[in-house]
Parts: sequence; structure tokens; C-alpha cells
Amino acid sequence: MDLKLLEINNITVTFETDEGIVKAVDDVSFHIDRNEIVGLVGESGCGKSVTALSILRLIPLPYGRIETGEILFYGKNLLDLNHKEMRKIRGRAISMIFQEPGSALSPLHTIGRQMVETILLHKNITRKDAWNIAESWLEKVKISDPGERMFAYPYQLSGGMQQRVMIAMALMLEPDLIIADEPTTALDVTIQAQVFELVREMKRFNTSILLITHDMGVIWEMCDRVVVMYASRVVEEGNRDDIFSKPAHPYTIGLLESIPKLSVTPPIPPSRGDKGGCRLKAIPGQVPSALNYPSGCHFFDRCPDAFDRCRDEKPKLIDLGNGHKTACFLAKNEL
Ligand SMILES: Nc1ncnc2c1ncn2[C@@H]1O[C@H](COP(=O)(O)OP(=O)(O)O)[C@@H](O)[C@H]1O
Ligand code: SF4
Ligand SMILES: [Mg+2]
Repeated sequence: MDLKLLEINNITVTFETDEGIVKAVDDVSFHIDRNEIVGLVGESGCGKSVTALSILRLIPLPYGRIETGEILFYGKNLLDLNHKEMRKIRGRAISMIFQEPGSALSPLHTIGRQMVETILLHKNITRKDAWNIAESWLEKVKISDPGERMFAYPYQLSGGMQQRVMIAMALMLEPDLIIADEPTTALDVTIQAQVFELVREMKRFNTSILLITHDMGVIWEMCDRVVVMYASRVVEEGNRDDIFSKPAHPYTIGLLESIPKLSVTPPIPPSRGDKGGCRLKAIPGQVPSALNYPSGCHFFDRCPDAFDRCRDEKPKLIDLGNGHKTACFLAKNEL
């Protein structure tokens, strides 16, 4: 049997807050194959980061809970592992690159020390060998004078350089999967391009990537497959070309029409109403608060195509063929 690298099946994550229970992730399923870059896209607040944190079991306890579902990594449910087993998975088999490199690097220790300690946590080798491995990874992510940078503190490096150090740290244990949560949002455009080049290169090291972003332009540039999330649920999934050439969910169409970067030129299909695929058209309205999602389709309030059925009934994901799925009553098999 061909085991998938990662298979998320029906996970639901809740948080207990002062205002009530928040369902941040609702019955989410998708998979990642080996050597694949999967994009998880959606506006802010749709549940992307919570999904990512669930994979690594980093949901803040005790008020956050994974209520249902399973997360199979090579067929093994990560939700069944104890803390010690989970620590082995983190960093070694699955590692994460955060939006703010500063938040993941300790300001108190040099880059070299942090990298060496991380390697020694997972590998039974000498400190000197660990030092050499760390330095070689700084070189691979194109940090100049890697030998000298090993002695630098994070504050002595630029934001772009810190992000490269994070990427080197994510790669140096040669994980099977890297989760990159908006890895370039805090960076300027030139550095962004360099980081994406690096992310693309990660595939050379046989690493699969879950790339989280709110930007469809980034998805076009980087990803093999796309999972679109809206207000805690997956609303569309498919390979990149299908998503861009025949998006099936009104939310995906809205995201495609609001691609912010003019430097990116994916083939946007003409939007309905014959607007000729114009860009930079923000989707009207906002993602609703997780405390009061509409009782039917979560996109109901903002959807230009909504009709009565959408008000009270939640659309399920249906298969359109070729791994393309959507959760909208307008999809052809649903009508
Ligand atoms: N620690 C938390 N406590 C309470 N609610 C949270 C917490 N983390 C996230 N949420 C809520 O879960 C929803 C999804 O958040 P998140 O996954 O961070 O969105 P995204 O990464 O797509 O911007 C949001 O409504 C957010 O307010
Ligand atoms: S189910 Fe209805 S409200 Fe939801 S996206 Fe489809 S048409 Fe719009
Ligand atoms: Mg996020």
C-alpha cells in the first residue's frame, strides 16, 4: 500500500474563550504527497495557522483542543503519540518555519550555538561534526561568510538573513515535511523573492512543503496543489492548474481576482459578469468571527451567487474529478 506522507482526516479544533467556544478548524481534511508543495490559502482568520499547529500538536493547552479526526504521518496517527514521541517528530521529521523569524530564534545565543544544540538533540554525533553540518547549511542557504555568522547573535542579522537561518535550521535535519506559515509576509519584496527561491530549492532535498499564505500569487509561483480554506473549512482543493483555470468556489474566484502582486501573471479566468479577469478587486466584506459563523455556508454573507439553500445548509466537499473538490451548491454534481 502506498502510504501518504501526511493525511489529515476530519480534524476539528476548538478554543475555549471568554466569549464562548470558538471552532477555529471545522472538519478539515487534505493530504500531502512526498516531494510535493501544497499551498494552504485563505484570508486572515480562516484557520490556516491552527491547522498547521495541529499537525505538530502545538495547539495551546488546556483551552485549545483537537476535538475530532486523525493526522496520519506515514499512516501513523500523530494524535496517538505521547509527548516524547512527538518531540522526536518535531524538527526531525516535520519542521516549521514561522512568519516572524525573531520569534523562533533565541536572542540570547549565537546562531551557531542554537543550530548545534538543535542538531545534537536529534543526532548522536560530536559537537564538532554538528558545528560543521550547521555551517554547511548556512552556506547552502547562501549566507555569506557562514563561518563568521555562526558566531553572530540574531539581532546582528537582517530580517532576510534571520529567515534564511530559520530555513537552514528547518532543513538541516532533513525533515520529510516543512510547514512554512506565511514565511515571507514580514519581509520586503526582494528578500521575499530570495526566500521563495530557497523554498523551491528545498524540493531538491526531497522535502515536501505545506506553504501557508493569503496570497494566490504566491500559490501560483510555488505550489503543485492548493487547498483553499474559508472561515474554518476547506472550500476547494485541486492541482494548481485546475484551481487557476477552472476555480469552482466563489471564494476561490474572489481570491484570484484580488491577487495583489502585479509581478505575478497567472492566467486568471474571466470572472462571471464578463469583467475580463480584472485584478485587485478585493472581496467585499470580511471573514466572520469564529464565534458566529453563518449557520449554512460560511461564505453566505459575502457570496455574489448565494441563494436560499445556502442560508441554512452547509455544503459538503464534492469531487469534480482529477482530485478537484469544492464545497458549493453551485458545483455541477450538486445541482
Ligand atoms: N489561541 C487562540 N485562542 C482563541 N482563538 C484562537 C486562537 N488561535 C486562533 N484562534 C481563532 O481561530 C481562528 C483561526 O485562526 P488562525 O488559524 O490563526 O487563522 P489564519 O492563520 O488563517 O489567519 C480565528 O478566528 C482566530 O481568532
Ligand atoms: S454554497 Fe451558496 S453561498 Fe456558499 S459559495 Fe456556493 S453559492 Fe455561495
Ligand atoms: Mg496564520
